[in-house]
Amino acid sequence: MEVLEGKKSDIILEFKDITKTFPGVVALKNISFTIKKGTVHALVGENGAGKSTLMKILNGLYHADSGEIHLDGEKVQIKDSLQAQQHGIAMVHQELNVVNELSIAENIFLGKEPMNKFGFIDQKSLYRESAEFLKKQKLSYNTKTKMKELSVGEQQMIEIIKTVFFNSKIIIMDEPTSSLSEGEVKKLFEKIKELKAAGTTIIYISHRLEEIDEICDYLTIMRDGMFIKSAKVGEISRNEIIASMVGRNIENAYPKTESNIGELLLEVKGLTNDSIKDVSFEIKRGEILGFAGLVGAGRTEVARAIFGMDPVNSGEIYLEGKKINIKNPRDAVDNGIMMASEDRRKYGLVTKRSVLENISLPNYNRYSKTLFLNGKVETEYSSDICKKLQIKTPSLKTQAASLSGGNQQKLVIGKWLISNPKVFILDEPTRGIDVGAKTEIYKLICELAAEGMAIIMISSDLPELLGMSDRIYTMSEGRITGELSREEATQEKIMHYATIERQAN
Ligand SMILES: Nc1ncnc2c1ncn2[C@@H]1O[C@H](COP(=O)(O)OP(=O)(O)OP(=O)(O)O)[C@@H](O)[C@H]1O
Ligand SMILES: [Mg+2]
Repeated sequence: MEVLEGKKSDIILEFKDITKTFPGVVALKNISFTIKKGTVHALVGENGAGKSTLMKILNGLYHADSGEIHLDGEKVQIKDSLQAQQHGIAMVHQELNVVNELSIAENIFLGKEPMNKFGFIDQKSLYRESAEFLKKQKLSYNTKTKMKELSVGEQQMIEIIKTVFFNSKIIIMDEPTSSLSEGEVKKLFEKIKELKAAGTTIIYISHRLEEIDEICDYLTIMRDGMFIKSAKVGEISRNEIIASMVGRNIENAYPKTESNIGELLLEVKGLTNDSIKDVSFEIKRGEILGFAGLVGAGRTEVARAIFGMDPVNSGEIYLEGKKINIKNPRDAVDNGIMMASEDRRKYGLVTKRSVLENISLPNYNRYSKTLFLNGKVETEYSSDICKKLQIKTPSLKTQAASLSGGNQQKLVIGKWLISNPKVFILDEPTRGIDVGAKTEIYKLICELAAEGMAIIMISSDLPELLGMSDRIYTMSEGRITGELSREEATQEKIMHYATIERQAN
């Protein structure tokens, strides 16, 4: 067992020999390590390493098959999240668990609403207390706003803030920054520092190693459900971390191949709606086109408009020189335009269905008569996709919900591939994906482009955009503000164009 140096009384939490199996998977094998009080402790590892599972056990959502959890030196039983809360443990989930129809205030108090003397929810104090709390947290939301009106990033922020409201001793954050804007990340980091100064312990899961250097004190590396090592941040090199995570060295982070750019494929002219203004651009066959911008710049909104998810007030779309009319996603798909959404929960996956069904679903209508006449073809195809994308799943029958976050993301991409799109829009394709799998996805993107597909890649990860794009458009406030060739593009230039204020008229 590994104990970080320091006095025994410094240790707030200890995992002892935790083992957990799911049907067909050993998710955790004899995990033992300790966490020091008042520190920010990172948990890293590839997709499917077992990070979320271990944290769900700590939060009472899953129960270990064997092993113990010791809190402040005492063995504890955590049967459910209410008990976790009583022990001062709170968790912000990787896959957000917000109830869309509820207001911000109701969501903050969910399950713990203040009651009045008649035994009803005391609406007045619910709204008053949550408003005061948000004000103290320097957040300017109206607490009556419904959760569904917030962006994914804003919802995430509310979930994080909520744990603070209940004075938690240990806060688990499972990839908290994956959908936050830079400004929000900064706010979160300030909050984390503040919490740490007040003695709170934070367990921080992230695939972004830079973040770990910035705010974490210790880190624990997991691989294939096993504990590999714990170390003090700064005393272990980036390369050593990555090598311990993946069990091998990764030579080339961006395996971009020479592109073979063909004729003009898609032309967008003057696309305008409530969120985007006069957006015009073009993309050729075989081209990987990056879209850069801050969160809220309108990149996803452009994708949604082209894919028929949002109405368009004016503007035209031409495909192979012909004007096309897209009123809904079906029209887009019929024209060979596909989109893998950034919000995989809402648009990407039917999480209650199996891996197999998720891969086949978008294709049933188009192909049922020909391709999927027999289940065998369907099974073969799905298993090919899983192999190609290295989707880690015990079987094709496994529910999508039970895959690790990163593997769900791969599934979102995989399910569109059968229909062989002409234009493939990828919105934050590697969010939540580990370093090894990222490289696999990049390889796949290059292969698709080499086959003549036009790829639109929206990303907030600048090194990724620079490493993968043939050309980059920048957006700010709903408009395209710049265009950079692969040769011209630098982080500085992108940031410059991405922060341009809207010109008068
Ligand atoms: N409810 C479940 N039912 C079945 N298998 C599960 C369930 N939850 C997790 N697993 C499996 O346990 C393993 C560990 O998954 P876990 O979600 O803990 O990984 P992770 O390290 O959080 O990965 P990621 O970085 O992708 O979020 C995976 O193989 C996953 O498929
Ligand atoms: Mg996870």
